[in-house]
Amino acid sequence: MACDRFEAFNSGSLGAIVRVATAETAPVVSALTSTPRLEVTEDPVGDRADKLRVLIAFRPPADEDISGYDWIHCAGAGTDHLLKALPTSEEDRPLMTRTIGRMGDQMGAYCLSYALADLQKHRARQEAQREKRWDSQALAPSELFESDVLVIGTGAIGSSIAACFRPLAQSVTGLSRSGRPAPHFDRVQPWSKPGSLKKKAFVIAALPSTNSTEAIIDASFFSRLRQAVFINVGRGATVAMGDLRDALSSGQVRNAALDVFSEEPLPTDHWCWDHPQVTVTPHVSGITRPEDSADAFLHHWEVLCRAGWPLNRSARIS
Ligand SMILES: NC(=O)c1ccc[n+]([C@@H]2O[C@H](COP(=O)([O-])OP(=O)(O)OC[C@H]3O[C@@H](n4cnc5c(N)ncnc54)[C@H](OP(=O)(O)O)[C@@H]3O)[C@@H](O)[C@H]2O)c1
Repeated sequence: MACDRFEAFNSGSLGAIVRVATAETAPVVSALTSTPRLEVTEDPVGDRADKLRVLIAFRPPADEDISGYDWIHCAGAGTDHLLKALPTSEEDRPLMTRTIGRMGDQMGAYCLSYALADLQKHRARQEAQREKRWDSQALAPSELFESDVLVIGTGAIGSSIAACFRPLAQSVTGLSRSGRPAPHFDRVQPWSKPGSLKKKAFVIAALPSTNSTEAIIDASFFSRLRQAVFINVGRGATVAMGDLRDALSSGQVRNAALDVFSEEPLPTDHWCWDHPQVTVTPHVSGITRPEDSADAFLHHWEVLCRAGWPLNRSARIS
C-alpha cells in the first residue's frame, strides 16, 4: 500500500495522535502510551495538523467523520465496516492497515474442529450413547486423509486455514478472484473457472465482504457440490442464505457450520437457529487479541518511521 499521502510530515518531527476508539481494550492503550512520539486519546481527535492523525478501531466511532484521518489501523482483520465509512476510491482514503496476529490459526482450528466432528460422527455417537446402542459399523469414522478440502479466499485467513488442513487432508484447493498461487494450497483456481467441485468434502468460505463478493456463494455455486460440509468464517453477506437452505434440502450441502451472518447477532426468528443440519456460532472463529492489535500497529508504525519523511513513493507498509 503506497504511503505518498504522508509527504507533508518530515522525519525529524514525526509524531502521531492516536485515537483508540470504543471497544479496544487496555493492553492496546498501555502498549501505545509507552511508545515515544505517540499521543493516545479515547476521544475525537479534532484538527491536529501538527501530528499524524491515526485511528485504531474495529468500526467507525459514531462521533467522528473518519475520512480526515491520515492512517486507520483496523483492530481486527475485516476492514469492511471501516471502508464503508470512507470514500470508495483508494486514492482518496487514509492509509489502511489491519491486524492478523494469530487469527488465522484460531480460524483454522475452528474449521478443523467442525470437519473432524463431522468425520468422527460426534453427533451420532452422542445419540447412540444416550440410547445405549453399540453400533460400530454406523459409528466408524471417515478419514480426513481421504477428504478433499476447498477454501474460498486464499488471503491471510484462507492460507492459514489451508495450513491447518494441509498435513491432514488428501488435498487442499483454493478458489480466489485471480487464481494466483498462495501458500499452503496444493492448487488455486480462479473463481471464474473453479473446476469440478463434486468431490470436495469440506468447503470453507473465508471471503471479505465487498461489492464483488455480495451473495457470490449462491445456487450456481452450490449446484457444483455433492454432500459437502459448508463452513463460513468470512462474512455472512458473501452467502445467498436462501440458496444455502435449498442446497441443504437437495443434499448439495450435507451440513453447515456458520460463524458469520449478514445481521449479527443473528435474529432469534432466523431459520438457521433451528435447522437440524446447521450449526450456528456467534462470530467466534477468530477473536482479535488486543496484544495482536497493538503489535500489528507498532510494527506498521516502526516501518513508517524507518521509511523516513517525506516517504519514498515506492514505500509499502503492508
Ligand atoms: N469470523 C471471524 O471471526 C473472522 C475473523 C477474521 C477475519 N474474518 C473475515 O475473513 C475475511 C478474509 O480475510 P483475509 O485476511 O484472508 O482477506 P484477504 O487477505 O484480503 O484475502 C481475500 C481473499 O478473497 C479473495 N476474493 C476477494 N474478492 C473475491 C471475489 N469477488 N471472488 C473470489 N475471490 C475473491 C481474494 O482473491 P485474490 O487473492 O485473487 O485477490 C483473496 O484470496 C476478512 O475480510 C474478514 O471479513 C472473519
